[in-house]
Amino acid sequence: MLKRSHHCGLVRAEHAGESVVLCGWVNTYRDQGKGLIFIDLRDHSGLCQVVFDLEDVKPEVVAASRALRREDVVGVKGVLRRRAGDPNPKLATGEVELLASELEVFNKAENPPILPDEYEAEKIAEEIRLTHRYIDLRRPRMQQILRTRSRVTKVTRDYFAGHGFTELETPCLIKTTPEGARDFVVPSRLHEGSWYALPQSPQLFKQILMVAGFDRYIQICRCFRDEDPRADRQAEFSQIDLEMSFADRDDVMTMMSGFTRTLWREVLGHEVGEIPRMTWRDAMERYGIDRPDTRFGLELRDVSDLAAKTEFAVFKDALAKSRAGRKGCVKALRVPGGAEKITRKMLDAYGEFVKGFRAGGLPSAKVAAAKGGASAGAAPGGIAFETGCAKFLEPVAAELASRLSLEPGDLVLFGADHWDVCTKALGELRLRLGHDLKLIPASAWNFLWVVDFPMFDWDEEGKRWVAMHHPFTSPNPDQFHLLESDPGGCLSAGYDLVVNGSEIAGGSIRIHRMDVQEKVFTLIGLSSEEAEGKFGFLLRALRHGAPPHGGIAFGLDRLVMHLCGTENIRDVMAFPKTQSGQDLMIGAPGPIDPSQLDELHIRPAMPTPT
Ligand code: AMO
Repeated sequence: MLKRSHHCGLVRAEHAGESVVLCGWVNTYRDQGKGLIFIDLRDHSGLCQVVFDLEDVKPEVVAASRALRREDVVGVKGVLRRRAGDPNPKLATGEVELLASELEVFNKAENPPILPDEYEAEKIAEEIRLTHRYIDLRRPRMQQILRTRSRVTKVTRDYFAGHGFTELETPCLIKTTPEGARDFVVPSRLHEGSWYALPQSPQLFKQILMVAGFDRYIQICRCFRDEDPRADRQAEFSQIDLEMSFADRDDVMTMMSGFTRTLWREVLGHEVGEIPRMTWRDAMERYGIDRPDTRFGLELRDVSDLAAKTEFAVFKDALAKSRAGRKGCVKALRVPGGAEKITRKMLDAYGEFVKGFRAGGLPSAKVAAAKGGASAGAAPGGIAFETGCAKFLEPVAAELASRLSLEPGDLVLFGADHWDVCTKALGELRLRLGHDLKLIPASAWNFLWVVDFPMFDWDEEGKRWVAMHHPFTSPNPDQFHLLESDPGGCLSAGYDLVVNGSEIAGGSIRIHRMDVQEKVFTLIGLSSEEAEGKFGFLLRALRHGAPPHGGIAFGLDRLVMHLCGTENIRDVMAFPKTQSGQDLMIGAPGPIDPSQLDELHIRPAMPTPT
């Protein structure tokens, strides 16, 4: 067998004159008909042009080279030479070519269903690419992304090993976990009628490792959540999972900020700098979302006090609303230059868009220069409102103009509803406007810690509190007393790391005392029996000497998405599932043999009678 001497993409002019063996896949094939055959040979490092001069090679090489087709796997021996013609500036190896003397065909490829080519990939449905993933992964972009992923895990292990973290594995066949998604379950053959659940995260095991005295833990692990995949979400994904003992919130955030800085520096050469903090309340009020994209302005402003002075029924109705102790509100979004930039059609579409978030509509008004200060909605300072709800804004025009720093040519959009509906709808609209009006700078990196989340969210349907992070999250040290008196006002010691509006990590300081843990279970409506049944092992561990501890998990796939600049999570996984949770290459999920079902004590469901 021909033994490779160089990688295809790494030969250069300085190797000219050397005898070389290259091995790889036939990327392109051209028979020029003048006794010359050209192929581009490809391996993981790139492409190199190979020339067969049919008058100069043995007859068997002539025959074999004429039979070559795309994606055949070959080895070629010859002498590397400078190209006769102009160098190819598109190739790193563009100054040289391999003049072949020997050819070994390792494997003939069938006519390829897809080609590993970026241009072709764009035109081919993702389902077809995923079905033939072994070819799709040969694309240079996929090779580069997965190599970056490998680099990310290496930098991760180096950083945390350097800070005294021990890498430990936790089991995959476990019981239900607390992350709030649906579990994937696995039937037990040995225990009839009993089931394992796959971990949504190793949350409880890593806490128990702290109780067990491991001090600092890291695992790059698989998590399984039976939820609908999205652009940045898969049912099976990877976390960089971490936990630290005797650590408070600042300790964890400092350690993780350092990791983030190291990762961006090592992979992209980018200096992240200090990562600012924002409270959850601030994030929600100003950006309408708990993972704000701070690369652009367009902040929301609460104008409920001004709205109360108008006669606009939409505002009045909203302000009269109340839910979970929180009053309805009116918020405004100033779009600079929006009077012109946002057409009637766009405005209608935005109205429909906010309805998707349960908002009733999208009141708006254009800002114009006042004509002599006497027109409808005129405010001192030369501003008047026009169109939409302009006439209702008249009594508060001056105050609105100054609070929102309005200028002629602006557009003001309003949200008026329950606080959560109004905030969410305008927050989502802000993001859409940011894209539509191209306000997001392409190369910016805006990192942000979001802190001081509420401990609990009110579930209107179930009429009960639910843990906003997970139920093992501790209140902030100064908030414990509110657990009893005002659960809704109690802030947690949770923290999320956000980059460019995407949550890349989430974690918290944990409850390390049994009595507090039990109180939280009671608050979220988990009876002692249920708590014991589900998480008894954790409660028992907490009774046996648990250190104060806290941790975090980074979404590894999301980190790689950012570092590689893709918005599709499937691009950063070698073998992802489709939007409907299928692995098209292996055909999973699929039926199983009835005898396997028998062994697992599972009876197939009877067909429903028609
Ligand atoms: P959380 O549920 O916030 O926390 O998850 C941590 C991070 O994992 C990523 N992530 C996902 N990535 C891809 N697909 C998914 N379906 C998916 N779900 C989550 C996100 C997220 O920030 N046990 C806690 C961590 C802790 O408290 O230490 C946990 O799992 O980037």
